[in-house]
Amino acid sequence: MTLAARFDPAPRGLQGVLAAPADKSVSHRAAILGAACEGTLEITNYLRAADTDATLDAVRALGAGVELDGSEVTICGVGLRGAREPAGVIDVRNSGTLLRLLPGWLAGQEGRHFTLDGDDSIRRRPIDRIAEPLRAMGAQIEADRLPPFTVHGVALHGATYAMPVASAQVKSCILLAGLLADGETTVIEPQPSRDHTERMWLRAGVTVIRKGSRITVSPSSLASIDRVVVPGDPSSAAFWVAAATLVAGSHVIVEGVGANWTRNGFVQIARRMGASVAGEIEAAGSPLIADDPVTTLEIRAAGLHGTTVEADEVPLAIDELPLVALLGAFAEGETVVRGAQELRVKETDRIATVVGGLEALGAQIEATADGFVVTGTGGLRGGAISSHGDHRLAMLGAIAGLASRHGVEVDGIEAAHVSYPAFTADLARLAT
Ligand code: S3P
Repeated sequence: MTLAARFDPAPRGLQGVLAAPADKSVSHRAAILGAACEGTLEITNYLRAADTDATLDAVRALGAGVELDGSEVTICGVGLRGAREPAGVIDVRNSGTLLRLLPGWLAGQEGRHFTLDGDDSIRRRPIDRIAEPLRAMGAQIEADRLPPFTVHGVALHGATYAMPVASAQVKSCILLAGLLADGETTVIEPQPSRDHTERMWLRAGVTVIRKGSRITVSPSSLASIDRVVVPGDPSSAAFWVAAATLVAGSHVIVEGVGANWTRNGFVQIARRMGASVAGEIEAAGSPLIADDPVTTLEIRAAGLHGTTVEADEVPLAIDELPLVALLGAFAEGETVVRGAQELRVKETDRIATVVGGLEALGAQIEATADGFVVTGTGGLRGGAISSHGDHRLAMLGAIAGLASRHGVEVDGIEAAHVSYPAFTADLARLAT
């Protein structure tokens, strides 16, 4: 059963101050780190949402202790080589990040076997991209191209792997396996992608060296760290950046947003299009540090002009590219996104679902093999859109509704719970 919700134009604009919800990527990584450590890790501001709850269940199934007090999560780890073989299949539900990261840890659990599966969307998401590099490290992965699949834990050896596409999930998987391997492991990225795993490893005392596009990790135990504080999620904050930019008369402040440069491509793209977004983002190419800096974003409505997003910018804004399409519909001139074929293997084929969805709302948008081209018409008529079970599409539809002339009905709004359970409540607060 899906839920439908209507989002009408906000005549007085969006107003108010809100805290960005906790970062999904950092939360997944913190839970896995906690499980792989010896001792207890407290996670402050853990994202309590469907995707990251799946990670807590997974690490529980692997033997870690998990205590919950709202967004305060305490994990009692099993140690780097101590994952228990679970009684059944590990269900990652809708989480591609869990699907890709966890096998890196499991591949080195000698003599134990793990089968991973998930929902219908997960069963369409390729896992050869992790199976191939893990096999190069000696891993035994029983898999076709798609889940379910089984990891047979064995002794691993280090390797150097040049990733054909920039993917932080694949990079993180290899770096996790690298901790258990004998010898160094190096990942070469075609473009920089989010570096939360590297930062967290640094905090846990692991030697991680980034030299240009090469990231090298040495086999290591994880130092016990007491606490990880999860910053606000730039990908969730991006919905308010877009909404406050597009809805006339808006003034919105989003506090506690992670300012890591590898996550903030969208703010830079929006600024380039003319958006008024104040707030300090880490400079591009900044050296690796152990924690994500945090910032406050202050957004006021502004007129936009089109831009071109090329392949090197894509990984820095991968989950926000649907919002670039939305901004493009309101901008003067053409907005082009290229080199983003990865969008085709997200929770949905996001080139097809974003182009189809926005077209139905009145946008002039065309799909290309690796992105889209939007011709701005100064606004959107409105209408109906389906989330297709994809959280980011559900929230895109809602924001489109606020900025449209006649409102938007979103079928499947409940998908927002995957990453942002308080989304509609926050929206109602800003729109009144
Ligand atoms: C993520 C990396 C990205 C992103 C996903 C989360 C992560 O995927 O789309 O939502 O936490 O590492 P890819 O690295 O596969 O592009």
